[in-house]
Amino acid sequence: MTHHPEQKGFTVWFTGLSGSGKSTLAEMLYHELQARNMRVELLDGDIVRQNLSKGLGFSKEDRDTNIRRIGFVANLLTRNGVIALTCAISPYREVRDECRALIGEFVEVYTYATVEEIAAHRDPKGLYRKAMAGEIKGFTGIDDPYEAPESPELVVDTMTQTPLESLQTILDRLRDLGYLEDSRMLAEGPKVHSGMTDLRLTETGHVAEGG
Ligand SMILES: Nc1ncnc2c1ncn2[C@@H]1O[C@H](COP(=O)(O)OP(=O)(O)O)[C@@H](O)[C@H]1O
Ligand SMILES: [Mg+2]
Repeated sequence: MTHHPEQKGFTVWFTGLSGSGKSTLAEMLYHELQARNMRVELLDGDIVRQNLSKGLGFSKEDRDTNIRRIGFVANLLTRNGVIALTCAISPYREVRDECRALIGEFVEVYTYATVEEIAAHRDPKGLYRKAMAGEIKGFTGIDDPYEAPESPELVVDTMTQTPLESLQTILDRLRDLGYLEDSRMLAEGPKVHSGMTDLRLTETGHVAEGG
C-alpha cells in the first residue's frame, strides 16, 4: 500500500552553515521516509534557487525572500499531509521563526559544525579559504551572519558524529515527537549522500564556473 490517508504532514527544517551537513542528512532522511512509504518532498536550497527563487541574490532581503518562499511551499506540502524536508542555510533567525509560526508542525534541525572544521576538512573548492582571505565577500559564517537557532528541536553535531549517527538521532527525535512510529533505519543500499543535492557551491552565491 502506498497511500497513507492518515499521514500527518510536517516539515523538517535543516539550518546550518554551508558544508555543515544539511543536504547529506536531508537526503538520507528522505530515503528513510520513502522506505516507510511516506510522502516526502525535498526542498534543497540550491534546487530552489534554480527554480522558485531564480534571480534572487544574497543580500539579506533576497535571502529572506528565498526562505519565505521555501516556507510557503513547505507549508502547502505540510498541510496536505506531505513531509517537507528543507535544507537551505537559512541564516536569519527571524525568518526561520516566521516559517515555524506559519507551518506549525515544524522540526528545526541545526546541523552544527564550526567554520574552522568545515574550512579544514570540507572545502574542496576552497571557498571558505577564499572568504577567510577576503577574496570573496558576503559568505555566510565569514563576513555574512549566521544566527544559530536558540531552541531547535534538535542539534546534530556533525563534527563528532558520522552521518549515520546523526541520521539516527534525527529519526529518534522524530519518533519522540510522535511523527514516526519506529526510528529504526530501514533504507537499503547506499545511504550516504549521493552528491546529487550537493550543490552548496551555488547556494552560497559563490559559484566557480562549471561548479
Ligand atoms: N554527521 C554528519 N552529518 C552530515 N554530514 C557530515 C557528517 N559528518 C561529516 N559530514 C560531511 O560533511 C559534508 C556536508 O556537506 P553537505 O551535506 O553538502 O552540507 P550542506 O548541505 O549543509 O552545505 C559532507 O561531505 C558529509 O559527508
Ligand atoms: Mg546543501
